[in-house]
Amino acid sequence: MPTRSPRRIAVILAAGKGTRMRSQLPKVLHCAAGRPLLAWVIDTARAAGCEKILVVIGHGAEQVKAAIRDPAGDIEWVHQTEQKGTGHALAQAEPFVQGDATLLVLSGDVPLVTSKTLEQLAADAAAGWGAMAVADLDQPGSLGRVLAGPYGGLRKIVEAADATPEELSVKKVNAGLYALPAPAVFDSLREVRTDNAQGEIYLTDAVTNAANDGHLVQLVPLPDPSEALGVNTRAELARVHRVLIDRHLAKLMDEGVTILEPSRTTVEPGVRVGVDTVIHPEVSLVGRTVIGAGCTLRPGVWIQDSTLGERVTVEPHSVLDGAEIGDGCRVGPFARLRPASHLLEGARVGSFVEVKASELGPGSKVNHLAYVGDARVGAGANLGAGVVTCNYDGRSKHATEIGPGAFIGSDTMLVAPVNIGEGASTAAGSVITKDVPAGALAVGRVRQKNLEGRAGGLRSRRKPDGEEG
Ligand code: UD1
Ligand code: CA
Repeated sequence: MPTRSPRRIAVILAAGKGTRMRSQLPKVLHCAAGRPLLAWVIDTARAAGCEKILVVIGHGAEQVKAAIRDPAGDIEWVHQTEQKGTGHALAQAEPFVQGDATLLVLSGDVPLVTSKTLEQLAADAAAGWGAMAVADLDQPGSLGRVLAGPYGGLRKIVEAADATPEELSVKKVNAGLYALPAPAVFDSLREVRTDNAQGEIYLTDAVTNAANDGHLVQLVPLPDPSEALGVNTRAELARVHRVLIDRHLAKLMDEGVTILEPSRTTVEPGVRVGVDTVIHPEVSLVGRTVIGAGCTLRPGVWIQDSTLGERVTVEPHSVLDGAEIGDGCRVGPFARLRPASHLLEGARVGSFVEVKASELGPGSKVNHLAYVGDARVGAGANLGAGVVTCNYDGRSKHATEIGPGAFIGSDTMLVAPVNIGEGASTAAGSVITKDVPAGALAVGRVRQKNLEGRAGGLRSRRKPDGEEG
């Protein structure tokens, strides 16, 4: 009769305070690569095909629950009201686990583990009592040291704080990732005492005790030791952030994206980038951003929750947030595109231009020093330097409509609500308060007077040099 492989349940330990972060925020909610540490661990557990995911929370429990979205509905929250150690934390999960199961025990502060490693742990555990991930580190620091026994199994895990100098010199560390049998591990936890440097119930002692009782605990070397990196300090958070970003950059480069200086570039793992796009240094692409093929993103560009088509150029120091940019558009330098800015094919937005909740039609241009808000600009329209849609009257926002092919002269104030007809023009410096029919030229400014010979008189009334305010 074929043996049935036990069910797989993830238990993520995330109740600790994380004192060394010196933070108001629970440690597992600190973000690396744009997402809370705990969210990365939950994703990995999910990818490893767990039937449910138990998350042990305590410190800042309500905040943690509120911050972690659960669209799949497979998370169960386990409360550890007092944090008495990793073993105590796992013990709280016992009422949530019925019958035989393989527990994938993870730490909410060890976010770089891959689902492949979890698969390996589960597979190796099946060939013995349990399995744990280990790494050989040159600087094992405060991590638990792992002493191997016969047949490549575990002899003992000793915490750095409890280790003898000889044990401290061991380079093999406990990554804090295990595949352990339920209910056996819960029985083992009941035997664990708190006679250690931290006065805690150590999960590592339960695993060591199983090994002492003659059970085989397989040591699974991590293929990439960075998977063992945990976050106890801000410096470690920075390292983990960089590894998550670097993994994604490596993938993008494999897929045909040019990244000129990866160590000075941030592309969050959720961001997709098309082939032959060139990314210059100091570019950040974050959130739900999608970049098409053949784009050029020059230095200092920040793009968040935006979609770019193909062959878009974004010149230096431009900021895009919630924008949608069509094929062949050009943006910047120093442009700011705020949420619901929509540039259609070939549109151009130049230097020191801000756009908000507006559609710029195909081939339209707003090249210098302008504000376009709550507007619809038709195809091929041209807005001159310094044009402002005056969309806000102090109470509410109003719309501006600019027809195709219209030409808005420099420094025109368009006092919304207002419509500029197709092919219409406004004279430079106009304040437009009434609709302009198609094809008309609107002049809304004081006519110029020239007062012959009066220039000198004006100068003589000025104060002497140096006294002007
Ligand atoms: C733990 C291991 C250590 C290993 C390291 C890997 C123990 C005793 N030590 O040490 O061998 O090298 O992880 O990163 O297990 N937690 C709770 N409740 C508690 C205490 C901790 O949920 O009462 C959670 C923490 O939130 C954290 C995880 O368990 O996510 C690990 O706890 P932490 O205190 O960081 O253990 P380490 O000292 O890093
Ligand atoms: Ca830790």
